[in-house]
Amino acid sequence: MEILRLILVILHFVGLASLLGGFLVQMKAIGAGRGTVVPAMVHGALTQLVTGLLLVGTIEMGHLFELDNVKIAVKLLVAIVITVLVFVYRKKQPAPSWALWAIGGLTLANIVVAVVWR
Ligand code: HEM
Repeated sequence: MEILRLILVILHFVGLASLLGGFLVQMKAIGAGRGTVVPAMVHGALTQLVTGLLLVGTIEMGHLFELDNVKIAVKLLVAIVITVLVFVYRKKQPAPSWALWAIGGLTLANIVVAVVWR
């Protein structure tokens, strides 16, 4: 179970890199009102949802450690909002700047929650 958790944590970081990286490489375009939801963001959002939920299952089933359910609920809610935004605006050229800033900002918010909330 511990090996599975480690693999999932690594994939969770890959998804985070994809989602945040997709936003960061476009900051200039977003500032100019030409930003779009790139596939890396869509794949990253889905990867975070799937690996996050599988992590919860692995930690619970393996009795690895106690998870804070409120923290997980907040992360899940934020990830769902991000996923809805990337799917709603993935075909818009350009996508509204507020939606792209929200995707980047909420991703950062979930990193802060993951690291600070212990
Ligand atoms: C944008 C979405 C997300 C981001 C940016 C994110 C970020 C992170 C980060 C940076 C960590 C590592 C924290 C550390 O080891 O100190 C982490 C771990 C974790 N995340 Fe997420 N996460 C996201 C979505 C989710 C979702 C949707 C869930 C579950 C519903 C989830 C559940 C977990 C769990 C269970 C851990 C592992 C805790 C551990 O092994 O210590 N995450 N997340």
